[in-house]
Amino acid sequence: MSKNFDVRVWPLPPWLDWRRLLGSGSWSASEQAGGQLEARAALERGAAADLAARLRGVGIGGSLLSIEILPPLHRKELRRASDEEARRYRERSVGFSRSAARVDDEGRRSLTPEALALRLGERADGVRVIDACAGAGGNAIGFARAGCTVVAIEINPARLAMARHNAKIYGVEDRIEFICGDACTVVPERSADLLFIDPPWGERYDKARVTLSDLPPCQQVLAAARHIPRRWIKVPPSFDPSTLPGSRAEAFFGVAHGDERRVKFLLLEQDS
Ligand SMILES: C[S@@+](CC[C@H](N)C(=O)[O-])C[C@H]1O[C@@H](n2cnc3c(N)ncnc32)[C@H](O)[C@@H]1O
Repeated sequence: MSKNFDVRVWPLPPWLDWRRLLGSGSWSASEQAGGQLEARAALERGAAADLAARLRGVGIGGSLLSIEILPPLHRKELRRASDEEARRYRERSVGFSRSAARVDDEGRRSLTPEALALRLGERADGVRVIDACAGAGGNAIGFARAGCTVVAIEINPARLAMARHNAKIYGVEDRIEFICGDACTVVPERSADLLFIDPPWGERYDKARVTLSDLPPCQQVLAAARHIPRRWIKVPPSFDPSTLPGSRAEAFFGVAHGDERRVKFLLLEQDS
């Protein structure tokens, strides 16, 4: 089949693995004003429609992505691709793989996929971690399974009980201290090598641009954590990293079928 659709996608942050986001195709990139990239490729009709469906309404690094396809596709083709994308989205990366794990609706929505929580744990390399917003325990368990010792703080007692139960299911409850309370008051009282914050994103976080002030209690917890040398914050893909000076951003992609090209979150890293 001939590749006769000229596809352009922009703005792509330079720190993003944009080839993974865009998928197969002979992509080339050029730099735009402000250091962002624009990627270009010739794609077949179906691949162009799939990409348009996947990138619709997606913001990364503080800007909504734009896609231009020439000649334009028919509306019916785009609708078919959107339906297929929605079906794939339902098979997205799972949270806990063990069926006895307990989560409530908010816990499920906000749970870090197990494989990604483990990857973060391995990166932490066995240090003492404070998980300031532990939820049902996805990250605390990932850190503990990778050999870290963890202080897990959660303001919601029912969710903290789930985290404790889930840690037992994974056999790591001895590596985690569970504290029910407000991270803003608990964090200053504890020492650690690494602070991890996964704040609630809200049900409808802004797909175009999110900043730290949209993600309470991040700012307050960071202000209370100057004694902790490393800080990691898990934020939505549309977070604008330029609003947190001194941080490095990295995109984490999904790992389940149908999710490998989706940016699940950005990890912002700050060292003192
Ligand atoms: C996005 S969820 C964390 C999900 C978790 N990382 C996981 O993978 O299971 C955020 C959690 O932060 C909790 N939270 C919000 N404000 C808090 C605060 N000030 N102190 C402690 N926990 C807080 C919420 O109750 C919610 O359970």
